Amino acid sequence: MRRFLIAGNWKMNLSRTTCVSLAQAIAAGCPQGGRTEVAVFPPAVYLEAVLAAGTGLVVGAQTVSEYADGAYTGEISCAMLRDLGAASVILGHSERRNVLGETNAQVNRKTLAALAAGLQPIVCVGELLEQRQAGQTDQVVLEQCTGSLAELTAEQMLQTVIAYEPVWAIGTGQVATPAQAEAVHATIRQWLEGRFSPEVAGQVRILYGGSVKPDNASELLAQPNIDGALVGGASLKADSFLGIVAAAEALVQA
Ligand code: 13P
Repeated sequence: MRRFLIAGNWKMNLSRTTCVSLAQAIAAGCPQGGRTEVAVFPPAVYLEAVLAAGTGLVVGAQTVSEYADGAYTGEISCAMLRDLGAASVILGHSERRNVLGETNAQVNRKTLAALAAGLQPIVCVGELLEQRQAGQTDQVVLEQCTGSLAELTAEQMLQTVIAYEPVWAIGTGQVATPAQAEAVHATIRQWLEGRFSPEVAGQVRILYGGSVKPDNASELLAQPNIDGALVGGASLKADSFLGIVAAAEALVQA
């Protein structure tokens, strides 16, 4: 059975002190012996401080360089993230694709670099509002999957998480309905089956992201193909993030 993953993408928010106290509050509030995996993604400059707090949470970065080392001013490599103790990395987030111009080919190179370095990639896909309105959702999302996950072996796919984040639902309060999200998740899983195998498709976790809150998490996570949440705004407060973790745990216990 796939284990729920609740991941907090803190984006470019918080300070050194508030990152550490938020991670500590989240770790303290997670159910003892819970079955849900909980991960946080602080800004890169605060990774070391959060890791040093020793909370036991999975800690990861919000992006990484596709290059191994050398003259790439401002970039941070996979090896550097591993050196710090980071375990995971979000790749191809819609803000990086749409605001910073990241392409599927770049996301693919970053994914392969992360896997080679032993980092777990969380590869994000999702359509714009106008693409959904034009009936292009499946096409756009599958193009992103095909391009961003090119060249991965089945073993590498098993170490990778996919996050479906419809761009129109991110930071807008306009969450996808459970049926809308489930339909795209099922399409992605079907694609995984064809591209890899039914076994791989059955094991890869597909997270939903976009205005997930404690009061809508349960309905979303109850969908058969939704294996967790990638949370933005509601991950910046321990109470709301823990409410989402609790919704996942309640479904596991049920
Ligand atoms: P919100 O939860 O703020 O909509 O952000 C979602 C997101 O982008 C997580 O990566």
